[in-house]
Amino acid sequence: MSAPNKSYDPVEVEALKPEELERLRDEAFAAFAAAADLAALHEAKIAHTGPTSPLSLANREIGALPPQAKAEAGKRVGMARGAVSKALAARQAELEAERDARVLVEEAVDVTLAYDRAPAGARHPLTTLSERIEDVFVAMGYEVAEGPEVEAEWFNFDALNFEPDHPARAMQDTFFVQDKQGKADSGVVLRTHTSPVQVRTMIDREPPVYVICPGRVYRTDELDATHTPVFTQVELLAIDEGLTMADLKGTLDHMVQALFGTGMSTRLRPNYFPFTEPSAEMDMQCYVCRGESVGNPDRPCRTCSSEGWIELGGCGMVNPRVLIAAGIDPEKYSGFAFGFGIERMLMFRHNVEDMRDMVEGDVRFTRPFGMEI
Ligand code: PHE
Repeated sequence: MSAPNKSYDPVEVEALKPEELERLRDEAFAAFAAAADLAALHEAKIAHTGPTSPLSLANREIGALPPQAKAEAGKRVGMARGAVSKALAARQAELEAERDARVLVEEAVDVTLAYDRAPAGARHPLTTLSERIEDVFVAMGYEVAEGPEVEAEWFNFDALNFEPDHPARAMQDTFFVQDKQGKADSGVVLRTHTSPVQVRTMIDREPPVYVICPGRVYRTDELDATHTPVFTQVELLAIDEGLTMADLKGTLDHMVQALFGTGMSTRLRPNYFPFTEPSAEMDMQCYVCRGESVGNPDRPCRTCSSEGWIELGGCGMVNPRVLIAAGIDPEKYSGFAFGFGIERMLMFRHNVEDMRDMVEGDVRFTRPFGMEI
């Protein structure tokens, strides 16, 4: 700050001249009025009222004036600065009001509008169908049994009477996880069916045994419209005194009636499985045409290709060698078993044409099946 100067005329100091102060004040007014938003007003505030603004600098000049001139100049500068801060406050209030009004409009929520609920999910139809099948058997007194998907080769093959050179063990069918390490050891595979769960159950408990074993199984198939390397099976095992093939047939008939309607029947065709003897392929009557399309070109049936029957899976009486491997006396007990794939059943039951839809996890596929529990 410069030293007081007795001969100093405030009117002569450029920054303190009335017209100059008016000009600075009017410039500030114009800048505030031109500020379109609060950020711009903040800039204008710094420029026109900040410590380096012309008015603040003019204020500093007062200190250098002779005492008799100070009051006059101080009054003029004070008035200019007062008017500027008033204008600033007024513009600030105006812009804040504008912002508040805009926010109220832009961020308004119309609570009366129809709202988009969280989109409904769906359970996978493979899950609901296998649960429905389980329910049919639980109602008859069966228990649901589960086991590991990474399984000892012994449970998956040996205990089920697969000879060491059985073709089903070959690389093209089975995912091998770990080779047999020694003679007494078992290799490890991804289970190729849920039959190993039945062996585990027979070892774990004393007969009578009535279990249903649903679960994922693995085979080295390429994924295409009719194959998938991971699929779902439901297998059933009953061990008791005096069970015969008639019990098996009655159980199958009951299942297809529970799932597809009253009056439905099944038929058995001879087949071979190492773990059942005798073994059969099981077919169910076509639930759409009930056989009426057979030999009737006027009424073709897409579901059974006009054959009247739909192939379900395999079944048979448990091979005594399997009972022995599981520590059950085949002289006292007999049993039956069957198994089928849920994907195939889902295909003909719901007209699903491509198996890939079942594994891709697209909710647009699962949603139409709903939340059935
Ligand atoms: N485990 C057999 C398969 O995966 C199916 C089956 C089960 C056959 C029980 C007969 C008895 O092909």
